[in-house]
Amino acid sequence: MTKKRGTKYVVKKGSAYWPNKEMKAIANMTDPKIYTKAAKDPVKFWEELAKVGLTWESLWSPKNGYVEKLPYFEWFKGGKINFSVNCIDRHLDRGDQTALIWVPEPTNEDVIKLTYAELYDKVNRFANVLKENEIKKGDVVSIYLPMIPEALIAMLACTRIGAIHSVVFSAFSADALNARIKDGKAKILITSDGYYRKGKPEPLLDKAKKAAKKTTIKKIIVVDRIGKKVRGSMFLDFHTELELAESYCKPEVMNSEDIMFILYTSGTTGKPKGVMHDTGGYAIQAYQTCKWNFDLHKEDIMWCTADIGWITGHTYAFYGPLLVGATTLIYEGGPNYPNPGRWWKIIEDHKVNVFYTAPTAIRMFIKTPQSWIKKHDLSTLKILGTVGEPIDKESWLWYFNSIGGGRCPIIDTWWQTETGGTLINTLPGIGPFVPTVSGKSFPGLKHVIVDDKGKEMPKGKKGLLAGVSPFAPGMLHGVFNNHKKYVDTYWKKFKTMYDTSDGAYLSNGLFRITGRTDDVMKVAGHRLSTAEVEDAFHDNSLISEVAVVPMPDKLKGQVPIAFIVLKKGSPSKKLESKLRKYIDIKIGPTARPKRIYFVNDLPKTRSGKIMRRILKALLINEEPKGLMTLINPESVDKIKEVILSNEK
Ligand code: WTA
Repeated sequence: MTKKRGTKYVVKKGSAYWPNKEMKAIANMTDPKIYTKAAKDPVKFWEELAKVGLTWESLWSPKNGYVEKLPYFEWFKGGKINFSVNCIDRHLDRGDQTALIWVPEPTNEDVIKLTYAELYDKVNRFANVLKENEIKKGDVVSIYLPMIPEALIAMLACTRIGAIHSVVFSAFSADALNARIKDGKAKILITSDGYYRKGKPEPLLDKAKKAAKKTTIKKIIVVDRIGKKVRGSMFLDFHTELELAESYCKPEVMNSEDIMFILYTSGTTGKPKGVMHDTGGYAIQAYQTCKWNFDLHKEDIMWCTADIGWITGHTYAFYGPLLVGATTLIYEGGPNYPNPGRWWKIIEDHKVNVFYTAPTAIRMFIKTPQSWIKKHDLSTLKILGTVGEPIDKESWLWYFNSIGGGRCPIIDTWWQTETGGTLINTLPGIGPFVPTVSGKSFPGLKHVIVDDKGKEMPKGKKGLLAGVSPFAPGMLHGVFNNHKKYVDTYWKKFKTMYDTSDGAYLSNGLFRITGRTDDVMKVAGHRLSTAEVEDAFHDNSLISEVAVVPMPDKLKGQVPIAFIVLKKGSPSKKLESKLRKYIDIKIGPTARPKRIYFVNDLPKTRSGKIMRRILKALLINEEPKGLMTLINPESVDKIKEVILSNEK
């Protein structure tokens, strides 16, 4: 069989790629002047997009398109909208179109497809289930689900009745879930008995039960995924309840500014913060970025590989594609199961057009035998996206050539949990596509590169990336129950500009992102803070002192490394493995340190501050600087010895 080539969408000019005729002919946005047009009146620009792109119950008054009273700002104030109507109801004239394709991990199980009409039915019913369980507008619902259709149904059902969903990554531990339930005071927890991962059923319910203890949770609604028996008056079966419920639920009319969801994310302190997103502003950003960045059309199938526990899963695996009225594909399991060809087979089987993943996955597939990729027909692909970490040139080129067949634009999207949707990238119909470079601020948005004091850096010089007013409609509306944290994290440094905590520089007028400037790590694309891992260790009675620092890793981007001073016990491989497992229980395996070094002392300043910078230097074999500020400089050589002796 000769393989199909697929349409070519790019042309090379110098070291960059640009959209060709074919791309321009289909792209939703091809006008390079859109940036200057939008910049003339960004508020008006977004208001127009929101009027055309979304279905409103009633519009905001013209003077309330954007109201800024920093550190807060509001979009479309007074506008009335329901999010689930925008994702489902308004597409019912094409009710037979597939909204969701779900690929289970076990290859002997059937793929499930839900049309918009079927999704409508299930979401309405589940919204009624929530109501019957006394969930009202403004209540928080905790969702601890893997990548299964019920996650989408549950989340959309919340938005139908105006409940605030708080999704927690299913690989997080019971302790992590417990802390998030407590913060949000959720009355209902929606979970599953488990899911399939790497060929095996992975139980989830025990963690959920443990997490719900001594919290406000009154009922746990359980999806039967792996056939475990669930007993007890606290539990309800997801599908039984769904079938018993009424088939129509009137959508709650929400204010555009009402909070739609909370998503906890790591910052520089030990406790994750609940980032709050509103309804209308978030909706337009999810919709518009999906349409323009990924050139998503109603007939397209988009596959974003992110888990629903992260913002990318919320915005681009679920909400963005549905707002556009397209088809979204989600996959339950591991990328290598049952073999490294699984992802590529999924693209071939389901004729995926837009594929969005993280550099970590790309780096992993560079290393697998390429025959697993070559044997699949990837000719339906049109756009490739990347997110979560800076992408190196080798990975970019491999992605472009081996997955995209040298045909598809790569859209390198920079954004954060806090921003709700993408903020910086090139648009496929405009270009250019340059390895390692993200691109321009989305039309109607502005970012600058500044020094510590907020002064703009000379062109091409590296500095801090900051957002400028008017701030993107999808941006966070505060930190749940924590005004101070919101102000301190995002507004303290620059006052009138949003502090992204990322470093960047301009290359030919395009942003190149260099990575976090704070203590946030990106471990296999997952956001974690060093302080969070340190805090978890502090709860262990064997540990006297601990410092966690990120170390560069070829596959995962960064991995956490822990330096521990013991209170009790003596260093051993066994203790190292026990303490690594301790982190699995406290946070989850994503946070598990790759190595633990047992040391007698940590480098500290006179005021007792642990100098993590020095530890970082030692890990990458660099000469540490600033030893004279230490109260115990001799600790450094000793730590060096520990690292070296462990390498042997
Ligand atoms: C990093 C993920 C380089 C960045 C959507 C940011 C990126 C953090 C890119 C947010 C990119 C995200 N290039 N770095 N294209 N996209 N980042 O909250 O450091 O999980 O601050 O949101 O990921 O991570 P979060």
